[in-house]
Amino acid sequence: MPYETLIFNVKESIGVVKFNRPKALNALSSDVAKELNDILDKVEGDPSIMVLILTGEGDKVFVAGADISQMVNFNPLQLRRFSRDLNEIQFRLEELPIPVIACVNGFALGGGAEIAMACDFIYASENAKFGQPEINLGLIPGAGGSQRLPRLVGRGRALELCMTGDMISAQEAKEIGLVNKVFPADQLWDETMKTAGKLASKGRYSLKAVKRCIYRGLDVNLRNACAMESDAFGLCMASPDGKEGLSAFLEKRKPEFKGELD
Ligand code: CAA
Repeated sequence: MPYETLIFNVKESIGVVKFNRPKALNALSSDVAKELNDILDKVEGDPSIMVLILTGEGDKVFVAGADISQMVNFNPLQLRRFSRDLNEIQFRLEELPIPVIACVNGFALGGGAEIAMACDFIYASENAKFGQPEINLGLIPGAGGSQRLPRLVGRGRALELCMTGDMISAQEAKEIGLVNKVFPADQLWDETMKTAGKLASKGRYSLKAVKRCIYRGLDVNLRNACAMESDAFGLCMASPDGKEGLSAFLEKRKPEFKGELD
């Protein structure tokens, strides 16, 4: 199905979603949310997709936030509904059993920064800019920014960014731990694909298990989190990939992971 606001394609087990609303700088509207949910349904139902990348079409913007021209007409309940819908998308990204990379190729503001933060990690171009400018609109972050940002960069930095609404460069975002790697704009895509390709060669079961352990573990105390890790570690042997990885090492050959989930 062709999309109005997004471009979606899958190549060699890597799914790519491009935000594509050039006239509104890829702003997140309720149509974007609907289409993104539809794509996530497809990704969840397609075991051949091993990695998902989110990026912006063009070279200026990832996503410039939620759609201001739509939000201005919302009443409080509609605005809360919109926020809840965006938050559900963020949880879906975190709960996907495959790695999700944000390839931030320009402005990632408000809801754009928030959607990048709900990806497993962020690669950015040197010209990318991050910020939570909602304060300048008389709002606050509404897609998880006031919660994920302090978890990623610490309370003080999150408060400063959300209270000033200032933008920071990709390099500054890297220094505070928001971004993993920064590349010259013309290398960002190739570098992102290189990492995606590497991830696609791993075992599907262990990718899912380690992702789940890290997200869920952050929400519980260390003892319980480690108990959860032991369970997941043991269950790696329930997947053919566990046996294959260990045997391949001992037989001095490359493992051939089958990509089975459970
Ligand atoms: N929503 C709707 N339209 C937007 C938009 C947004 N978030 N951001 C930009 N646009 C539109 C502009 O209105 C403009 O449209 P027209 O050509 O019809 O006038 C077009 O995109 C180009 O924008 P600019 O002329 O402003 O482009 P610029 O290069 O001068 O500036 C920018 C780029 C710094 C990103 C600037 O557009 C900007 O500050 N955008 C708003 C960023 C923002 O405040 N985001 C937070 C939104 S609230 C939110 O996200 C809530 C939440 O947490 C869920």
